Amino acid sequence: MAKENLKLLWQSGFLHGGDYNPDQWRWRPGTLDEDIEMMKAAHVNVVSMGMFSWSAIEPQEGVYDFSWLDEAIDKLYDNGILVFLSTPSGARPAWLAKKYPEVLRTDKFQVKQVFGERHNHCFTSPIYRAKVKEINQKLAERYKDHPGVVLWHISNEYEGECHCNLCQEAFREWLKNKYKDLDALNRAWWTGFWGHTFTEWDEIHSPTPIGDWSLDGLNLDWRRFVTDQTVDFYRMEVEAVREITPDRPVTTNFHDFPNPSEGLNYWKFAPYLDIVSWDNYPYWHNETNSDAVEGARRDFIHDINRSLLGKPFLLLESCPGATNWQEVSRLPKPGVIALQSMQAVAHGADSVQYFQIRKSLGASEKFHGALIDHYPSKDVRVFKEIQGLGEDLSKLDELIGANVDAKVAIIYDWENRWAIDNIQGLNENRKEYFKMCINHYFPLWSKGIGVDAIDMEQDLDKYDVLIAPLLYMVSEDLAERIKEFVARGGTFITGPFTGVVDEDQLAYMNGRPGPLREIAGIWAEETDSLYDSQFNKIVKAGEGKSYKAKWFCDLLHLEGAEALYEYGEDFYAGSPAVTVNSYGEGKVYYFATVMEQDFYDDFYKEFINENMESLAIELPDGVGASVRENSEYKFIFIANHNNGEVEFNLDEDAYDVLAEQELDKGAAAEMPAYSYKVYRVKK
Ligand code: GLA
Ligand code: ZN
Repeated sequence: MAKENLKLLWQSGFLHGGDYNPDQWRWRPGTLDEDIEMMKAAHVNVVSMGMFSWSAIEPQEGVYDFSWLDEAIDKLYDNGILVFLSTPSGARPAWLAKKYPEVLRTDKFQVKQVFGERHNHCFTSPIYRAKVKEINQKLAERYKDHPGVVLWHISNEYEGECHCNLCQEAFREWLKNKYKDLDALNRAWWTGFWGHTFTEWDEIHSPTPIGDWSLDGLNLDWRRFVTDQTVDFYRMEVEAVREITPDRPVTTNFHDFPNPSEGLNYWKFAPYLDIVSWDNYPYWHNETNSDAVEGARRDFIHDINRSLLGKPFLLLESCPGATNWQEVSRLPKPGVIALQSMQAVAHGADSVQYFQIRKSLGASEKFHGALIDHYPSKDVRVFKEIQGLGEDLSKLDELIGANVDAKVAIIYDWENRWAIDNIQGLNENRKEYFKMCINHYFPLWSKGIGVDAIDMEQDLDKYDVLIAPLLYMVSEDLAERIKEFVARGGTFITGPFTGVVDEDQLAYMNGRPGPLREIAGIWAEETDSLYDSQFNKIVKAGEGKSYKAKWFCDLLHLEGAEALYEYGEDFYAGSPAVTVNSYGEGKVYYFATVMEQDFYDDFYKEFINENMESLAIELPDGVGASVRENSEYKFIFIANHNNGEVEFNLDEDAYDVLAEQELDKGAAAEMPAYSYKVYRVKK
């Protein structure tokens, strides 16, 4: 039922809006009316409200004030603006922290935190859970019948961990449940090392720099526990509102990925979401990436979020202006706010929402981009750009629900990433898991090839190509499924340091890549790591073409595979560096090292030409493409990430959705700097 009600989200058209905090403005009468007028001018039809409003709704324990929220929800609805209503668990009131100190977090140094900031609460505390349930149910009771409230936005960017005694107990229970007996745990964690064998469950403590940090198994299980405990808290919040509003769909907004290795495994939330949503904060115009690479990085994260439920998602936050918590607050150049929004849509978002509608006058986010600035004018660059985007989005109603049909999957696996970041070994500063994914993703992105991003547990059946840039940890089960995938004709492309350990992180004893050795047709005997200033190179056997290699290099022996490239330097010069092996009907490619981007671009160009259907339009460099489709149409999105104009020619008749114009095959398209096109083609 809740899922069916998702369609109510788009009752005012393609969703466009953002986080709105009228509770910060109660001292200034007239602000709500002014804002609504501005929102309408910008074609805004949705806001998220209430994520940090607990102290405004319950200023004293048991004393409630909904007046400001009633007024806002009613007025917004009367003006065609819907509300995603948040539960306020992300920031508890000061009185609550003072009266019930148990709810506050204890950090990994065993320091109890004091009231402040947000997400500074224990996810285990029974008191915090009870208080959150109570406030959630008050909100649900109050707005259960309001037609303007169409979605529960549960909490806000869950994050962090707590090391208090309650959490230690919960962790031990989690471990008991997983291992049943201590012998199994001692084996899995290899606790004979440094004599850490546990004899009673209560000897176990969460990993900490002031205690145990050297047991890789403990570290990984802790991360798994933190995710499970947060999901459990989320489910408690959902159940609280479901008791009263069983039909209202739920989401929780996922974090951006500045530090994903610290984060939560979002796959574990997926079964309990009606729709996925996330918050995108690109680093435009930075020192290390081109805007095209930054664009591709963002699109890969959109793809991860879409893949979680295999369905369109919501872009719940993004920045209309400078993102002031980034190291340098660069202004997005003209066109970039609209472009980043349309990129999300191109990869499956059925909304474009911002943080924030109106900029605060004080506190740490007062210089963060917003639709309405301190000087609340419509005649400013950002407002006008968003207004134009709003007009474009209003032409996309028929796109709603259209999906991406991906035949390629990249394994982006949180547990692998946590594990690789945690190990002692390789080049300590170059555990670039995400970057290695982007190496493979970028050339696919440039050709408009749909990519899903999956973890180790997802089904492989619907894919033709499976890419695992760094599959350090591989379960026997996944290895078996990859084997079947290749045997039936799939192509598996993998990278260095793959197939090293099982899911307990215990090393395989049958030679790397462990259970993938047979299908890869190689044996990796050792791995050399390079300092940042050192390089090897790979050379195409017989052709002299070479590419720079860096960070780490597996030393391979062929066991049936063919060497496509060999190392060009050091004592392993002449040994295989890129191999291909035929297995059953399919193939396995093994990249033994990390190359500069030009290798991946050239490799995939050839691979795509020979093996895959891609967008036939010849696109200039720095331009990304993607396709969404429904039963009737394909929607082709082209995004120019260059700070300059580009041109290309259409390869089929198409309808330009934004220009509202029929175009013939061969028509030339001109794209200004940082701009986008949306074409519709009948299937
Ligand atoms: C996050 C939060 C918002 C806001 C923005 C600022 O995404 O959810 O409340 O702090 O960051 O970028
Ligand atoms: Zn705790």
